[in-house]
Amino acid sequence: MTDTQAGGDVRLSGISKNYGSFQAVHPLDLTVPQGSFFALLGASGCGKTTTLRMIAGLEDPTTGTVFLGDRDVTGLPPYKRPVNTVFQSYALFPHLTIYENVAFGLRRRGIKSVKKQVGEMLDLVELGDFAQRKPHQLSGGQQQRVAVARALINHPQVLLLDEPLGALDLKLRRQMQLELKRIQTEVGITFVHVTHDQEEAMTMADTVAVMNGGRVEQLGAPAELYENPHTTFVANFLGTSNLIEAEVVSTSAGKVVVSAADATLRLPADRCATAPTTGGKILVGVRPEKISLLHADEAAQITDGRNRLTGTITASSFIGVSTQFVIDSPVCPDLEVYVQNIERDVRLVPGARVVLHWNPEHTFGLDAAQDIDAGVETVGESAS
Ligand SMILES: Nc1ncnc2c1ncn2[C@@H]1O[C@H](COP(=O)(O)OP(=O)(O)OP(=O)(O)O)[C@@H](O)[C@H]1O
Ligand SMILES: [Mg+2]
Repeated sequence: MTDTQAGGDVRLSGISKNYGSFQAVHPLDLTVPQGSFFALLGASGCGKTTTLRMIAGLEDPTTGTVFLGDRDVTGLPPYKRPVNTVFQSYALFPHLTIYENVAFGLRRRGIKSVKKQVGEMLDLVELGDFAQRKPHQLSGGQQQRVAVARALINHPQVLLLDEPLGALDLKLRRQMQLELKRIQTEVGITFVHVTHDQEEAMTMADTVAVMNGGRVEQLGAPAELYENPHTTFVANFLGTSNLIEAEVVSTSAGKVVVSAADATLRLPADRCATAPTTGGKILVGVRPEKISLLHADEAAQITDGRNRLTGTITASSFIGVSTQFVIDSPVCPDLEVYVQNIERDVRLVPGARVVLHWNPEHTFGLDAAQDIDAGVETVGESAS
């Protein structure tokens, strides 16, 4: 793997794609640092594949430039770009052995002695014992690894992966996520991975770009996106968020105080994606696992300075590691709270009056002009 060329970053500058009057990708500026594992995450139809295909050269951009390092590759055909793509369908040659599938790129370039390189690749994807089998004699996950080996043997600067795990069942998919991550770390080349599965993107990628309607809404490390979403779409698409419409009461000394129905809540000013103005509206967000839940009779034990809400449990589901509660509160009819399964209070059942409380530092603020439910309905799809 030592002869992998140092390629530099993948840089998209003002890249867009129109199909007739429909703009599939809006002008996009994006840098994928060399050697990083980068994920394009978004719901079906948001423009992920189109973006990937423009990097590969399989699609001409309507506007903009694709750079690999300092090199403008926008006009180059796919086979002249130091880029390989792994598709969801793998597209292995059914009549060739695994060995010959992996050797294919070398043979096509007229390279005769392929044994060492093919052996290394098969070792990398842990399929050395399967060299003489045909693709139909392998499991889905094994075929997927052959597809990766077949692409990597060409020593691309960048490997593009378009939903490569889509055909696998959930368990195998989780295994392959770790496997792909290991391979990427080992070979050190840039991976650009397209997925609609938020958990997959977060597990594997150093950097995730969340796409929505042909635009990148937010880009960052998984934890950064999760903890500090800047839009309602990102807050709802990446995990679950409780979003509460509130009015700003005051802002001072880095603290924002808001009121919503019967409650007064606090949040740090630097966790607001929009500048809060007194009297203005803001969406206050908190993740379900940050909230503690107490039976109303225990409310006195909550320390001062915590954000607190009252409500009634409307639903609960025990899922082993945690119990997920839905709570009807004056500020919001369906707040979600995840309580870790440590000590279970048997009184916490539907109908019970409860108090929710959390550290104000765990609260974020979003622009209230957005659709509060953006990205919500797509969560179900991402679990498929
Ligand atoms: N050749 C084409 N002609 C017209 N419209 C197209 C064409 N290819 C894609 N589109 C449209 O562009 C949009 C983006 O498509 P794209 O394939 O990039 O989506 P995606 O994010 O990869 O979705 P999925 O997760 O379903 O694969 C979609 O609305 C799609 O219908
Ligand atoms: Mg696609």
